[in-house]
Amino acid sequence: MAGPVLVFDSGVGGLSVVAALRRHLPDTALAYCCDNAMLPYGTRPDPWLVERIVAVCEAAVNRTGADTLVVACNTASTLALEALRERLDVPVVGTVPAIKPAAQASRSGHLALLATSATVARPYTQRLIDSYAPHCQVEKVAADALVAEAERAIQGHAIDPAVVRQALSALVEDARIDTVVLGCTHFPLLRRWLDEAMPRAVTWVDSGDAIARRTAQVAVGPDARQGLDAAWVTSLLRDSSGATDASERLTRGLASFGFAAPCLLDVPSA
Ligand code: DGL
Repeated sequence: MAGPVLVFDSGVGGLSVVAALRRHLPDTALAYCCDNAMLPYGTRPDPWLVERIVAVCEAAVNRTGADTLVVACNTASTLALEALRERLDVPVVGTVPAIKPAAQASRSGHLALLATSATVARPYTQRLIDSYAPHCQVEKVAADALVAEAERAIQGHAIDPAVVRQALSALVEDARIDTVVLGCTHFPLLRRWLDEAMPRAVTWVDSGDAIARRTAQVAVGPDARQGLDAAWVTSLLRDSSGATDASERLTRGLASFGFAAPCLLDVPSA
């Protein structure tokens, strides 16, 4: 039975993959699900994360009737793809740091990987580097602060350039680095600010287009798009006064990627 392609992330980062999916599959219905109740994932313990990711994705696949799951989150994919494929009956497309194309693009052989603390520490990530960039020097940089900035950007808040500069400081100092892997799906949403903070030209590489191409191969007869697509969150946002302003801001951000106001997803506790 045909269903939408479900895109999953901890927060709004998956929207950078949605942008690529819309380019490659303009007629395909998408559903978006973010586990914003537990955002950020990048600083959480692995065993807890695996259980949580499987529980949320299973609930979202059941709720949306999706025929394909795109895990648009490097932190989740470098940990939980196997567990997801074991539990779910639909094809699962993962998002992992684009080390291979970055190694091919670099002229100096010096790359940087900008990702969450969890992703830079994962054995999966080191295996990608050993397999696809054995001849390169790869500087791994944890930049968790950029996740919150990307959330703010999508909600229409001003970005703090000092936070972005601080996240890039190790890359700015090493002039040999000519290629930077954006190994967290939140980061392409900050491209404008990353460009501003980087004093020299570098090639930024993300996985969006590769994920979209792979999804086009595996998605079997997905639903055709009809107007706005459905979106799901695990928590309705409230600001510090208890008003739902942040939720309205998130709704506007999702709408700019073609999604309706988000509904609350009920996730059974593990
Ligand atoms: N967007 C996610 C990624 O690609 C992670 C953000 C988070 O820390 O929750 O890794």
